[in-house]
Amino acid sequence: MRFIMGLFHFTSYVLLILASSPLLLSNGEDRLTLGMSISGNQILTSDGEIFVLGFFSPGNSSNQYLGIWYNNIPVQTIVWIANRDDPLSKSSSGLLMLNRKGNLVLMDGTRYVWSSNVSFVNGTANNSVAVLQNSGNLVLRDGAGVVLWQSFDHPTDTLLPGMKIGFSKKTGHNGLLTSWKDENEPRSGDFTLGLDPQRPSQIVIWRDSNPYSRTDLLDVRWIVTGMEKSNNSLLYLNYIRSDEGYYVGFGVSDNSIVSRWMLNRTGVIEFLLWQATIMKWTVFWSAPKDECEIYARCGPFGSCDKNNRPGICSCMTGFKPSIQKDWENGDWSGGCVRQKKLKCDDGDGFMRYERMKLPDHSILLGNLTIEECEIQCRRNCSCIAYAPANSSDQVESRCMYWSGNLMDVTHYLNAGRDLFVRLDGSELADGSEKGPLAKSKKSIAIPIATTMAILLIGTLCCFLLVRKFQRPKKRRSFIGIRLKDPSESAAFGSHNGSEVNSFSLSSILAATDSFSAVNKLGEGGFGPVYRGTLIDGSEIAVKKLSENSGQGREEFMNEVTLIAKLQHKNLVRLLGCCIQKEEKMLIYEYMPNKSLDKHLFDLSKRVNLDWNLRFHIIEGIAQGILYLHKYSRLKIIHRDLKASNILLDGSMNPKISDFGMARIIGGNQTEANTGRVVGTLGYMSPEYALNGLFSEKSDVFSFGVLLIEIISSKRNTGLYPTEKTPTLLGHAWELWREDRALELMDESIKDSCVPQEILRCIQIGLLCVQEDANARPTMSSIIFMLGNDNATLPSPEQPGFFMKRTSTVVNSGNLSNISKLYSINEVTITSTEPR
Ligand SMILES: *[C@@H]1O[C@H](CO)[C@@H](O)[C@H](O)[C@H]1NC(C)=O
Ligand SMILES: *[C@@H]1O[C@H](CO)[C@@H](O)[C@H](O)[C@H]1NC(C)=O
Ligand SMILES: *[C@@H]1O[C@H](CO)[C@@H](O)[C@H](O)[C@H]1NC(C)=O
Ligand SMILES: *[C@@H]1O[C@H](CO)[C@@H](O)[C@H](O)[C@H]1NC(C)=O
Ligand SMILES: *[C@@H]1O[C@H](CO)[C@@H](O)[C@H](O)[C@H]1NC(C)=O
Ligand SMILES: *[C@@H]1O[C@H](CO)[C@@H](O)[C@H](O)[C@H]1NC(C)=O
Ligand SMILES: *[C@@H]1O[C@H](CO)[C@@H](O)[C@H](O)[C@H]1NC(C)=O
Ligand SMILES: *[C@@H]1O[C@H](CO)[C@@H](O)[C@H](O)[C@H]1NC(C)=O
Ligand SMILES: *[C@@H]1O[C@H](CO)[C@@H](O)[C@H](O)[C@H]1NC(C)=O
Repeated sequence: MRFIMGLFHFTSYVLLILASSPLLLSNGEDRLTLGMSISGNQILTSDGEIFVLGFFSPGNSSNQYLGIWYNNIPVQTIVWIANRDDPLSKSSSGLLMLNRKGNLVLMDGTRYVWSSNVSFVNGTANNSVAVLQNSGNLVLRDGAGVVLWQSFDHPTDTLLPGMKIGFSKKTGHNGLLTSWKDENEPRSGDFTLGLDPQRPSQIVIWRDSNPYSRTDLLDVRWIVTGMEKSNNSLLYLNYIRSDEGYYVGFGVSDNSIVSRWMLNRTGVIEFLLWQATIMKWTVFWSAPKDECEIYARCGPFGSCDKNNRPGICSCMTGFKPSIQKDWENGDWSGGCVRQKKLKCDDGDGFMRYERMKLPDHSILLGNLTIEECEIQCRRNCSCIAYAPANSSDQVESRCMYWSGNLMDVTHYLNAGRDLFVRLDGSELADGSEKGPLAKSKKSIAIPIATTMAILLIGTLCCFLLVRKFQRPKKRRSFIGIRLKDPSESAAFGSHNGSEVNSFSLSSILAATDSFSAVNKLGEGGFGPVYRGTLIDGSEIAVKKLSENSGQGREEFMNEVTLIAKLQHKNLVRLLGCCIQKEEKMLIYEYMPNKSLDKHLFDLSKRVNLDWNLRFHIIEGIAQGILYLHKYSRLKIIHRDLKASNILLDGSMNPKISDFGMARIIGGNQTEANTGRVVGTLGYMSPEYALNGLFSEKSDVFSFGVLLIEIISSKRNTGLYPTEKTPTLLGHAWELWREDRALELMDESIKDSCVPQEILRCIQIGLLCVQEDANARPTMSSIIFMLGNDNATLPSPEQPGFFMKRTSTVVNSGNLSNISKLYSINEVTITSTEPR
């Protein structure tokens, strides 16, 4: 979290050295008053030296603009531009000053290029002054300190902490982000982003004023992990509803985090963090991320599911493609039409779709129960669908309905809401099992699946900064495995008795019944997982890596070569792999009891996990990790330990799976750095999530989270934060400090537990998740602590971080004062899971 410190060691700027004319302002000032001006290479610098304002010329552009950028970031990052659509030529000398009336004006010779253009009550502002603040806001205020104008109200493509976009009910002004036209061309581009005036809880990206991507903030559960600092979370999203208007913004509570949102010129909203260790902006999250997030990808009454193959679009039950040919050719834009006209009588029924992104253009009906909502919809023949909301959801209206077309519908894997679509009764009777959606609805079990990540505006986040893997060749040769021609079905990579078999595609097809849906076990981060039975009767699990998954050949080889070499009773065994052109598959032993999260977080199943069994699982996981960390001369960092990656065999022995993210670091090396941070946020240590630094201690952090989850049967990522206890780790810490740690324990282990052991495990868990990586114990000392009741344990410090979503509901007046936390009760993830 101190990564910005590095920045300040960075020598700055050419700009500072440049001479200034005595008539003009001397550099280092943070403000302009009447009679002062800047031009040429002069800049205003905010008093904390965070931001500067001056003239710049992007790339090889022949134009010049007045803008604001970060003072200490060597990659010039423009956050605001005054005259984006009216550039100065590079040869002209622009001049920024206060005019006699008190407005900020940008002059090109005698031409007014740009002006803050405030009309003052008395024609003239009283002693106005323009100040560049440390937040990056350029504020024009009068002598009495009243803000007359500020750059934060006129965003370009960037949203900074403390800034907000949205619209005013009074003036109708809608503050939008507008993308750059091109890399070196800050002119207003094709994409804009803002709140939807019709439905202000929706964030919409428009392309040439047509919707391009849409997300309802009220459907978003921004998940949050870890501990917050005092009562401020590190990063938070703010949605403000007030008498004045609707706004969205974000904030950070730790000033050392340098972050911004940016609508890039391809229409993608990115959330970026500055990583000083690698001197780069990393994309922490972005949207739209997949085809299904493109507005109305499947046309009216089409539903999008990115996991559907071959086509992502399907017609909703009771509907058929409006133009069959187009549909077959993958042109889904025409959408679907109803097969049987609605008679609008008692024969109508409602088909329930689960986990849907609700269609656009909803009509709010008010605070109704599910039953009332259905009755209201039935009564009105133009109501073709309705969606009730759960009582725990804080939505404006608990019942909404639709008339006309259902547009922009997406089926999620494990997010979304229920949607009830009106159908002729006869369609309902035979349609419910046949519809393509109905089919996909069945595949719910997710054994190796991702359960978590963070969801911001509809999708999840995962670092994207792609850097080539370091020395894959070297690693491979160390492991000593060579891939033969994959079409040959032969054993390859025999090494120390560990064999990786290459399976032929035909044998896999036979085993999984051609990947039939019946055999689908679920969806992992990088593709579906199928159950299969080989000719000899042995059961296997086949992880099929989707072509456009994030896991490329390198990750694949990484996983194969790593696991081939690993042999431990607490690691899942890889039987082989299968590569056929673009298709890549991993074949594992089949784990009949699926993954730990399926047991732990299931109300009915978790009662079967008594304390002895839980402790056995904890020990097994610890042994597995220790083996990884101590393995041979190398350390293997798993980097994605979480409940869904712990599989359970027939006797409930835990086995760590999913090594796609694992990294080897040299024997003497204790810490490594990666530009590509992968993993699952709830389980990521702060230094890894923020700085990309990983070490054994990042696995220890994840283990700590797991430990607390196993004791409490609650997801770290899924706990409903309340004002006092925002997350599971935060909750655990609070209880621990108040000597009430036993309350963390899942009720269902009350009878089987030994309180001292539980307390001990909680203490170990808290030790593992401490913010300071050096303070966390190593796996071998953890195993020692688990096994020795008498050993004295150190006292844990406050756990490391992380995020939450807040919503501010204000009735009038000051927007920022009253802040009320949203209740967040479910972990959701929509499109791209980072496994
Ligand atoms: C700037 O450079 C890019 C390639 O680097 C080139 O395509 C573009 O035409 C250049 N623009 C100008 C104005 O020179
Ligand atoms: C200044 O504001 C007036 C209305 O208040 C508007 O007509 C005019 O176009 C604006 N000028 C500029 C340069 O924005
Ligand atoms: C406008 O002028 C009147 C009288 O001169 C003064 O009382 C008032 O405070 C002024 N308003 C502003 C906004 O300066
Ligand atoms: C103008 O501002 C000064 C302080 O800078 C204040 O003393 C004076 O009363 C103000 N005048 C008006 C008309 O507001
Ligand atoms: C945050 O904590 C401080 C002191 O701990 C308290 O005064 C303040 O009211 C709290 N703010 C909120 C929003 O809870
Ligand atoms: C926009 O953002 C996306 C996601 O981060 C990225 O893949 C794409 O390359 C970006 N486009 C540009 C022009 O930078
Ligand atoms: C909606 O109704 C529920 C109970 O039916 C009540 O608890 C809740 O406060 C109501 N919400 C609003 C916004 O009226
Ligand atoms: C039925 O729904 C339509 C479309 O929203 C609406 O215009 C109409 O007023 C509704 N009729 C009744 C009786 O509620
Ligand atoms: C409400 O939540 C429960 C459990 O989270 C879920 O089973 C149910 O389907 C939800 N109902 C609606 C209407 O979303």
